[in-house]
Amino acid sequence: MRDRLIVGNWKMNGGLAANTRLLRRLAAGWHAASGRVLAVCVPAPYLAQAQTELQGSAVAWGAQDVSEHRQGAYTGDVSAAMVAEFGARFAIVGHSERRQLHGETDALVAAKARAALAAGLTPIACVGETLVERERGDTESVVAREIDALTDALGDDAARIVVAYEPIWAIGTGRTATPEQAQAVHGSIRARLQRAGAGEIPILYGGSVKAANAAALFAMPDIDGGLVGGASLDGDEFLTIGHA
Ligand code: 13P
Repeated sequence: MRDRLIVGNWKMNGGLAANTRLLRRLAAGWHAASGRVLAVCVPAPYLAQAQTELQGSAVAWGAQDVSEHRQGAYTGDVSAAMVAEFGARFAIVGHSERRQLHGETDALVAAKARAALAAGLTPIACVGETLVERERGDTESVVAREIDALTDALGDDAARIVVAYEPIWAIGTGRTATPEQAQAVHGSIRARLQRAGAGEIPILYGGSVKAANAAALFAMPDIDGGLVGGASLDGDEFLTIGHA
């Protein structure tokens, strides 16, 4: 049995006072359970706050992006080593919002995953198709291209990452993939990863996950947990998803 991993992606939301309430709710409400990990990926300025509030609790934390570079003249960027210094365990890379709004390519996403690994972080690499691509019947080929870019660049290290399948049409839309739709893609991702020697890594589903649909999604054989946006901003709802 693979571990269950539930990760909150706060995106560009939060503020010191609201974060304190949310992080304290999670720290108090989540208890270490074998085979289950709960984590939050916060905006970079709040990594120190996440560390202060969550250290000693069973909740892990991480960043939403890292630079592909180690250090240097890259104004505005945050290195993986900086993120790791704040006790973070995870870094999301290649979220569709970064691919679409910041022009991140498959090669750049793979370089970011490599930078995260080099700093001791576990990258959560996101893949997924647009609605147009799905309707054209291109879901499998788009996702295969994104997965292959990661496994080709990482080699044996691909077995140390987490993949999140996030159909872009399901993000923030309230329109979730059905468990069967998600499982079909997760199964094809698993097969692709297996060929690269990374068949046992966690594959998370993301896209309008909430307390009401989490259990049905997580019951699918190749869905190992969730990457949760909006619903991770509500402590009780996120804890319920964690226990689903
Ligand atoms: P929502 O859960 O708000 O749809 O966001 C999903 C997502 O993009 C998580 O990374």
